Amino acid sequence: MPATLGDRTLFPSLTPKAYLNHAAISPPSSVVQDAVAACLRHYTEEGMGAFSTYLERREDLRADLAALVGAQPDEIGLAPNTSWGVVFAAMCFPWEKGDGVVVLDGEFPTNVTPWQQAAELYGLRIHRIRAADFCSPDPGKGLAQLETALRAGAKLIAVSAVQFQTGLRMPLMAISALTHRSGAAVFVDAIQACGVVPLDFERLGVDLAACGSHKWLMGLEGAGFIYVRRALGPQLRPRLAAWLSHQDGLGFLFDGPGHLRYDRPLKTDASVIEGGAYNTLGFVALQASVGLIRSLGVNTIYDHVQAYHDALEPKLSALGLTSLRSPSPGERSGVLSFDVPEAFEPTRLPERLAARGVSVALPDGRLRCAPHWPNALGEVDLVAGALEEAIAEATAG
Ligand SMILES: Cc1ncc(COP(=O)(O)O)c(C=O)c1O
Repeated sequence: MPATLGDRTLFPSLTPKAYLNHAAISPPSSVVQDAVAACLRHYTEEGMGAFSTYLERREDLRADLAALVGAQPDEIGLAPNTSWGVVFAAMCFPWEKGDGVVVLDGEFPTNVTPWQQAAELYGLRIHRIRAADFCSPDPGKGLAQLETALRAGAKLIAVSAVQFQTGLRMPLMAISALTHRSGAAVFVDAIQACGVVPLDFERLGVDLAACGSHKWLMGLEGAGFIYVRRALGPQLRPRLAAWLSHQDGLGFLFDGPGHLRYDRPLKTDASVIEGGAYNTLGFVALQASVGLIRSLGVNTIYDHVQAYHDALEPKLSALGLTSLRSPSPGERSGVLSFDVPEAFEPTRLPERLAARGVSVALPDGRLRCAPHWPNALGEVDLVAGALEEAIAEATAG
């Protein structure tokens, strides 16, 4: 059955009436469930006999993901999650002692911790800039600080395409233009953008990226990918390599005697991260969900989600919440977040809304609404009504 905007027929058992938690974990569609069930059945029936089918499908998925993010298939490596992709980039980047790395305040911790670890290991200097300083009203403020850091020897900036809490979309093109002028590199955590915000890594000047599949890509947890710009691949130091990171790493299992060696060259593209047995079910799920997203088109999905936000934002603002949505359309994303007055007991809001059929998140105290392609605009009144009741409950006593 094809995916249709604003139609949740492919999610027949989804309990919440308005599911606004795609920035956390998306529920699997029936298309994803069927694909996973078929793969599991195949392995159940054939064991090792099923392996080669999914080894080949890996290449199709690589091509699908490349098409989704404006990359070439050999620039995509399949990884367990975003975090492992950040760890890979932080550990394998060709650092020299004394180099700098720029991290942003406000980021999800996974885009900070590995850089801190790399700083300790390789003797790097950490530069910190507020993520919000790259956005309205004065995006130049962040860029000026970045320029200072680059002048002081920063060799890489780690930035999320979309900030997990505020939903602010970062000006990747301006960041990469400035960064490349100094010969430094741009790493992007794409998980809050990929699948809902149009991305073209080539055009945006991204050098390295990581993404997981359980949010806007609508796959399952435990499957993701990295992007390594082709020219950068050979410069990386593959410090996290394992048996399948070698060229022809599988050959010794199938090609007869005399092929067990430890000196095969390591791969120099993104697939060097695929060092061991991998999450076949998770990647089958991802391929199915990406198929649905590509059938709709990310631009179309983005417009649909913005129309949802356009309808929801004034209603929640009228109830006393403060929208964090940027006035500049280029800084918007799939996430619509609000500051909530203390009197509305923000920490109890998700539970009170869930009791009324609305699923939302509250990262670091902000109410986060994250609709995706299956959400119908007709849900908006239900969400506003549920919030009104939740506020009434909080302020009753
Ligand atoms: C911006 C951002 N990066 C990374 C993560 C974590 O990703 P993963 O669990 O795939 O490592 C999240 C949320 O869970 C996130 O919002």
